[in-house]
Amino acid sequence: MTRKLLMHVGPTTIDLDVLLAGVKESSGFTSEDFVYASKNVLYSMEEIVKAPPNSQSLIIPGSGTAAMESCVSLLNKDDKVLVISNGVFGNRWTSIFSRYPLKVETLESRPGEVVPLEEIAQKVEKNRYKMITFTHVETSTGVRLNIGDYAKAVRDFVDIIVVDGVSSIGGELVDMSGWGVDVYLTASQKALGAPPGAGLLVISPRALEVINHENLGGYFLNLSNWLPVMKSLKENVGGYFSTLPVHLIFSLSKAMELIRHEGVEKRIKRHELVARAIRGGVEGMGLEIVAKKGLYSNTVTGVLLKKADPVRLLEEIQSENVELAPGVHPALKGKYFRIGHMGWVTPNDAIATIGAIERTLRRLGEDIRIGEGVMAVQEILGA
Ligand SMILES: Cc1ncc(COP(=O)(O)O)c(C=O)c1O
Repeated sequence: MTRKLLMHVGPTTIDLDVLLAGVKESSGFTSEDFVYASKNVLYSMEEIVKAPPNSQSLIIPGSGTAAMESCVSLLNKDDKVLVISNGVFGNRWTSIFSRYPLKVETLESRPGEVVPLEEIAQKVEKNRYKMITFTHVETSTGVRLNIGDYAKAVRDFVDIIVVDGVSSIGGELVDMSGWGVDVYLTASQKALGAPPGAGLLVISPRALEVINHENLGGYFLNLSNWLPVMKSLKENVGGYFSTLPVHLIFSLSKAMELIRHEGVEKRIKRHELVARAIRGGVEGMGLEIVAKKGLYSNTVTGVLLKKADPVRLLEEIQSENVELAPGVHPALKGKYFRIGHMGWVTPNDAIATIGAIERTLRRLGEDIRIGEGVMAVQEILGA
């Protein structure tokens, strides 16, 4: 059997130890080992995002979208919400909020760009919003928003700042406390490198205070139902509201252990190096990156093709045992594909990926400089 290289945007490659940690028989939701694993995940999340003291983290069965929708529990009828969208996942906030009796406004950027800070500052200075949402790394284009600057600019004008860190937590610097962010959320299958199945949130004390009985959240995703369980797990006692993904949490706990062992800073540096190498390889072979200069992320790179069909590339490259992600931004339909480089990704993966892309694109007749991508990766990794 040939080992496959999964350079996707999630699920990403899973470390075997992380996967095997989930193989356990007979663990109930009150078992000592499960309570320990949950507690480890909850405390580790707070550490990774640098949460302010007395924050509360939560594990919600489901996915990143479940974590996003659970944020409706911080809102009441007719609250004003401002969505800052740099692409498909930014727009997902608007789709979610539009299902509820809220006053939602959206500022949207062009693909590969971000909404300018001045535009947002002007908007929040004129209107009081209960919540503003940002997407740290917009996975549809690979664009990273400078959350530090954006959050600081709006902090005095909005009540709750929520950041979708689905493609950032574990691969990008996050400083929830220093930046004054109230909610940071992610999903298990992204840069934390565990199997899919859970959304994860970290909530600041200020945001915890606004979760009241009249909140608009439904039943399953209402954070007021999950909070007592999560508080109790942090204190070493199992609790029940609805069944948690027990085996996934064992895997997640192992991932947290490995992250702590690597060190969060070192992990971010590894992501940064691999991302730089991938971008060097893409440009080296003569292709263009979707994200504008200065907006590159450590975790996702969108690549524009000149004439080859990205769908064919994704199909063909599977014969090289490499899996990449399709382009999903509707404005760039049929023009690009994405490389995910997060989780347990290594510098060697960058060389293998760029090499396989070069070979496959040549077969598809794309106008590229074969070999120069790999050479550029080598220059970056060997510098
Ligand atoms: C930035 C971002 N937000 C939200 C989501 C939704 O997460 P999920 O697919 O786990 O529901 C994704 C998924 O890729 C994402 O990349």
